[in-house]
Amino acid sequence: MSLLLSPVEIGSLSLANRVVMSPMCMYEVVKEDGVATPFHFAHYGARAIGQTGLIIIEATGVEPDGRISSRDLGLWNQEQKVALERLVADLHSFGTKVGIQLNHAGRKAKDAVYPLAPSEIAYSDDYATPNQLTIEEIHRVQASFVAAAKRSVDAGIDMIQLHGAHGYLINQFLSPSTNQRTDKYGGTLENRYRFLQEIVEQVRKNYHGSLWVRLSLTDYAQAGEQNSLEDWQEIGRWLETEGVDCLDISTGGLLNRRPNIPMHDGYQVPFSIAMKQAVSIPVTALGLLDNPGLCEYILQNKQADIIMQGRALIRNVNWLADAAISLHDQDFQVYNDSYKRGQL
Ligand SMILES: Cc1cc2nc3c(=O)[nH]c(=O)nc-3n(C[C@H](O)[C@H](O)[C@H](O)COP(=O)(O)O)c2cc1C
Repeated sequence: MSLLLSPVEIGSLSLANRVVMSPMCMYEVVKEDGVATPFHFAHYGARAIGQTGLIIIEATGVEPDGRISSRDLGLWNQEQKVALERLVADLHSFGTKVGIQLNHAGRKAKDAVYPLAPSEIAYSDDYATPNQLTIEEIHRVQASFVAAAKRSVDAGIDMIQLHGAHGYLINQFLSPSTNQRTDKYGGTLENRYRFLQEIVEQVRKNYHGSLWVRLSLTDYAQAGEQNSLEDWQEIGRWLETEGVDCLDISTGGLLNRRPNIPMHDGYQVPFSIAMKQAVSIPVTALGLLDNPGLCEYILQNKQADIIMQGRALIRNVNWLADAAISLHDQDFQVYNDSYKRGQL
């Protein structure tokens, strides 16, 4: 049996395999009310039938102005919670575990009426200059994360991921180029981490289930302009101490520039390896990991503990079944006998 398709425990979370569907915004909430639509049931349902070990529902706004776009999912009210509860129950019925990524987009909330950020620095000319968060607003946004976490639990979710990557609000606090505050939420690395630390601490007070954080380990900027890898490793250690179960390692998204690096298969894996050297909790690998043999190599060599699949799962809802054929894994179970006939 392959490691990729064999069960694993990540903290308190038991997964049937190590393939996790990466959170991916679908911008399908046409009514702009943050409520899951038939699209979400079909889209995530297909990947659940495909036996994805864990599905992380796309970046979900904790406040209306925290959405990346007004067509994002949201989780600030009861109607959104009720729809999520039905979605989670449906996905569970196919045997998958279900997580949700909670997000506030900060200065990258392009449809926000009143965009907020640690400092008044616009993402690009196409985005409004955000308003610098007051201390009261910081506490309100943190409380919105905690309230959304509570609604996720009430909806039956198995895992919560805080989106600390890709240049959204938590990332904007963590990074020196977007956080130029002079109060206790800015300045030193410890101060820039405080916004996230307080959210984790408050979520953990009432939630003992699986808690993951996604981080971007480089901004593809010059040294001095960004946190060093050692800074990110320090943040990883702090999050481990705070009781986070898994670190989901990504890169980029903070600055309005494209990484000037070759984009080959597994190009972000060195960042997962670096984080694994710093912490003892599980770490993910992601980014152009379509090749099952490469995924197996990463796991066998302990470069990461979990493989995130994004675009490969958009293209192919049965990516795991194809991976089983490619890895000659006879033990992988497809959804039912009819699906088994597709394996021949
Ligand atoms: C359509 C699309 C939407 C995405 N939305 C999110 C998101 O909501 N949250 C997030 O953390 N990453 C998001 N990402 C990034 C993916 O989660 C993933 O990390 C990235 O695509 C690299 O993995 P891949 O090569 O397997 O696709 C998105 C990517 C795509 C293609």
